[in-house]
Amino acid sequence: TDRYALFGNPLGHTKSPFIHGEFARQLGDDISYEAIEAPVDGFAAAVRDFVKAGGKGFNVTVPFKVEAAELADEAHEAVVVCGASNCVKVEDGQLVAENFDGVGLVRDIVDNLGVALKGRRVLFAGAGGATRGAVVPFLEAGVGEIVIANRTVSKAEAIRDLLGPRGSVQACGYEDISGGFDIVLNSTSASLSGAALPIPPAAFEGARLAYEMAYGKGKTPFLELAERSGAERLADGVGMLVEQAAEAFAWWRGRRPDTAPVIEAMTIPLE
Ligand code: ATR
Repeated sequence: TDRYALFGNPLGHTKSPFIHGEFARQLGDDISYEAIEAPVDGFAAAVRDFVKAGGKGFNVTVPFKVEAAELADEAHEAVVVCGASNCVKVEDGQLVAENFDGVGLVRDIVDNLGVALKGRRVLFAGAGGATRGAVVPFLEAGVGEIVIANRTVSKAEAIRDLLGPRGSVQACGYEDISGGFDIVLNSTSASLSGAALPIPPAAFEGARLAYEMAYGKGKTPFLELAERSGAERLADGVGMLVEQAAEAFAWWRGRRPDTAPVIEAMTIPLE
């Protein structure tokens, strides 16, 4: 049995053991995938124990993503850009760090939702780790322009300054959001507390897709606003969650699982 795990704190609600269990069943792989709630000051020690016990790889969630990037012996580009890792592979005792959230998001939008990104104008609400990780995969998918709006404008500007040289990236506050977007995404943590964002309705007019990165929160204030304001289609983050897990599974084990049945099993209709 090959051992994998998710490290985070708290982990009460995690779907990752289910997702990886389904992938393994589908491919006939003999793996275990545990949720390990490490003490907030005990991540490195918990990782050491896991590796010593033969662990082959692990995912990382709040609050350990930045620490995982620092702990790694080797980091792939997405980790360097984000300063955070959500996936680590153990190779000859060395920790190799990746970050699949952005890639998973692009795969969900293009492959599952069937919304093309090439040449599109995209608005991100929020400038935290989730947006940071998504910008490069979006530019690589050929988007025409990315606008990052954030309450704290300087955080959006920092991402623009870092990644702007690779494509068209703008930064602004919510009050300066214009219209004409094809895709609008909420990458803030506002939905977790049920808070609304001051996005002008014009941002959604004619949009093909409004995407809430959170999963399992139903029709959040962001999605309600998007629907009222004319967005053609609404989606939450279930597909992103399953796609980043599939990226991890494929990286660890060399075979890519089929995500469709797992997404279907986990989808909660946005009534
Ligand atoms: P993550 O790494 O998960 O993206 P983060 O780095 O803490 O989390 O970023 C959280 C994002 O949600 C930020 O863009 C934050 O805005 P600020 O940078 O201005 O703090 C945003 N956010 C959280 N609660 C919000 C609220 N009530 N209204 C507006 N933005 C909010």
